[in-house]
Amino acid sequence: MKTEITSSIHYVGVNDRHKTLFEGLWPLPYGVSYNSYIILDDKIALVDTVEVDFFPQFLDNIRRVIGDRQIDYIIVNHVEPDHSGSIALIKKYYPEAVIVGNKKTFDMLGGYYGVGKAGDILEVKQGDTLSLGHHELAFTMVPMVHWPETMVTLDTTAATLFSGDAFGCFGALSGAVIDEDMCCDVFWDEMRRYYSNIVGKYGVQVQQALKKLAGVKLDYICSTHGPVWHKHIERVVSMYDSMSRYEAEPGLVVCYGSMYGNTERAAEMIAAAASEAGVKNIVMHDVSRENHSFIIRDIFRYKAIALGAPTYNNEIYPPMASLLSELAGRNLKDRFLSVFGSFTWAGQTVKKILAYNEEKLKLELVGNTVEIKQSLSEETRQQCEQLGKEIAKKLAE
Ligand code: FEO
Repeated sequence: MKTEITSSIHYVGVNDRHKTLFEGLWPLPYGVSYNSYIILDDKIALVDTVEVDFFPQFLDNIRRVIGDRQIDYIIVNHVEPDHSGSIALIKKYYPEAVIVGNKKTFDMLGGYYGVGKAGDILEVKQGDTLSLGHHELAFTMVPMVHWPETMVTLDTTAATLFSGDAFGCFGALSGAVIDEDMCCDVFWDEMRRYYSNIVGKYGVQVQQALKKLAGVKLDYICSTHGPVWHKHIERVVSMYDSMSRYEAEPGLVVCYGSMYGNTERAAEMIAAAASEAGVKNIVMHDVSRENHSFIIRDIFRYKAIALGAPTYNNEIYPPMASLLSELAGRNLKDRFLSVFGSFTWAGQTVKKILAYNEEKLKLELVGNTVEIKQSLSEETRQQCEQLGKEIAKKLAE
């Protein structure tokens, strides 16, 4: 792997193709990388570390770049253990290294690893700078992108931003490190899934961070996950800007749960009617079969959502209740919502989804709800078709 980003900035991260669920929740069909970087100068800085399981590889990567030299600074942009996990071991190999972080960083590092004590740290605040000799570093606090302690480090000499999770994506690196040296097709969907699932709740804070960085000339963005951005900087910044504003493309995501196929048939009819009325982008997800990270990704992408499920134990069908909670937990906004459902003897799902929307999601309702008793009747078929047309009409406005 070519690790040189510039003559003095090197990639020393690792790929994780073992883990099946990131944070124990999100599938990793293409793996994930934990990125870490070395800045070589009069002083040597290590920017973030990697998950501890990969420490032997990580240490080898570092030694291949710095040889017998010592690490002077360990910059901790973000304490989540996928990035700080190796810090206690790194301190054993490089005991003189000073840990650079902010007040909140050290509280967390102490709790996790018992490192980052007085005499061993350099505490920085918004706008503080640090000289490595030739390279000048400037620190910007970006709380909640993705944790409260998160900051980014700008190498003003190299026009390079070490951005933490920001601009990151799922997907291990297959050979190359910099975007211009690889095919990036797999990363765009994985960036949307990463953003919507991991950072999606914090749109306001991402917008604040983007404002702080507006106008800064950048040749490289070195995130903690995924490729180093160089050729596609404009595209990734624009994607993060758009996603954090909850902007959406015209399109419909039909999410349904179905025990015996009746709600599924209604979902198919709504999708078909929307298609006939001109909607090109339609995605269907079975909330029981599909990991919700892919559903959340598509809901962050498209403007209209249709949610349908049966009543179960007098409540919303559990996987749909879970999806609703996941959407509320991401502060989803500016979407159109349509609702349908089924029951055998007591209809609860439709009214409970509507109540949940009124209380938590507050999305604009489109069309009349459809409620199917036992199986589709001629009347409810027509209602499904009408609902699909109403969604198409709303999207076309
Ligand atoms: Fe990749 Fe928030 O850690």
